[in-house]
Amino acid sequence: MYAAAAMMNSLTMREQQIVRRILKVNHAGEHGAIRIYGAQLIVARRRFPGICGKLDEMLGHEIRHHSAFAGAMEPRGAKPCRLMFLWAWGGWWLGFLTAFLAQRALKCVAVECGKLR
Ligand SMILES: [Fe+2]
Repeated sequence: MYAAAAMMNSLTMREQQIVRRILKVNHAGEHGAIRIYGAQLIVARRRFPGICGKLDEMLGHEIRHHSAFAGAMEPRGAKPCRLMFLWAWGGWWLGFLTAFLAQRALKCVAVECGKLR
């Protein structure tokens, strides 16, 4: 907490603003990613149960990333995006549609992770 405050104090006002904006966008992106994987898991449980373990693992990564950004925001004076509901809504639909319409997309996730051949 003190290290973050000291780091911010060493920056110009403009640089501090950039740091806050970067944190805000990254936090929102992780929020959307959580919804993407959540929706993909809903489809995968019915259609591709073999990759659910990997999707669950990746969802866990996104949850940790989200927590890390959330924790970094407060000591730097960054506030969450006001449009978080759009990130959630957009992420969920993106995940659902890519999983539902693009069977190969989900298989690619698994292939990238070395789960399928
Ligand atoms: Fe992430």
